[in-house]
Amino acid sequence: VGVPRPAAGDDRIPPTVAWHDGRLRLIDQRGLPHRLRFVECVTVDEVCGAIANLTVRGAPALGATAAYGVALALFAACDGGDPIEDAAWHAAAKLMAVRPTAVNLERGARDVAGAAIDAVRAGQSARAAAGVALAEAHRIAADDVTRNRAIGTHGNELVPPGARVLTHCNAGALACVGYGTALGVVRAAAAAGKHPHVWVGETRPVLQGARLTAWELRRLRIPCTVLPDAAAGSLFASREIDLVIVGADRIAANGDVANKIGTYPLAVLAAQHEVPFYVAAPVATIDRMTPTGDGIVVEDRPADEVVRIAGRRIAPRGVTALNRAFDITPAAFVQWIITEHGLVAANHDAVRRVVERD
Ligand code: MRU
Repeated sequence: VGVPRPAAGDDRIPPTVAWHDGRLRLIDQRGLPHRLRFVECVTVDEVCGAIANLTVRGAPALGATAAYGVALALFAACDGGDPIEDAAWHAAAKLMAVRPTAVNLERGARDVAGAAIDAVRAGQSARAAAGVALAEAHRIAADDVTRNRAIGTHGNELVPPGARVLTHCNAGALACVGYGTALGVVRAAAAAGKHPHVWVGETRPVLQGARLTAWELRRLRIPCTVLPDAAAGSLFASREIDLVIVGADRIAANGDVANKIGTYPLAVLAAQHEVPFYVAAPVATIDRMTPTGDGIVVEDRPADEVVRIAGRRIAPRGVTALNRAFDITPAAFVQWIITEHGLVAANHDAVRRVVERD
């Protein structure tokens, strides 16, 4: 379509989400750390499937994926002679319904659908509007990497030399188009010669920490140690954690943070042990329409992810399991939200100011 493709990855970690020959190419995160493979999607239903089964995951990566998903639907609508406006909203609604917590997904789908509809209303042809949608998806993807690098630069100020950093889930390049948010801060600190060491919470049920964060850090040659989620309290007590940095799926207007289940207990432990707790996220993860964390919809996922590990059943057949995918950390536990515009206090006024500035 004649639009430049974003260069998100580097030679160590390829782009998580990329447009390749008219298809959406995703790293298949289900196979990591054993196999680095790619999945290609050509229909919006395939994109929805890849989001649902965690081929692609992480809030910023979901935003870019949804954006490309709408673009794919619009090229298909051109081929089928369907009205662009209907196709755009239909695709956006479908994508948004797959995972409700990450606001970036909703934003990526809406922005691309909106751009295409504006183009049609301005008199452009259906195919030109689909091209506009793709250009907008490319912009979202390229923007993600630029913003993550800025998050890294700002967050680096908070990392002392030799810091022992605890992180949870995966908020690295794999959770974004590239570079990462929480791990972006660690990368920036490593690049500044501070030699951070990362404690990686394994992150049950699907082990984004042990599988994905550890894989990224190994590729980046940043030392890390994986720990069972239940070991965090003991590490805080023995004063072996200097700071905690996590990502976010949605930040409410008052600074409450939704992130991977298990984040909230880490914030409570950090407060108890007087260890700083930081959330690294782009402004696109802030949702000012949701006043507090109480209003954030938390996704419930299939029980199967809990009763099995790597496909093997570990709990008796017939047992029920809770698989609440995220928890809410109240703003009071968050020392700083590290954004691409700098450090933001987790309160209503500071959050409003950074969104208005963006
Ligand atoms: O269920 P997941 O793997 O999509 O959850 C991801 C997280 O909780 C991340 O911490 C969050 O999306 C931030 S990613 C930069």
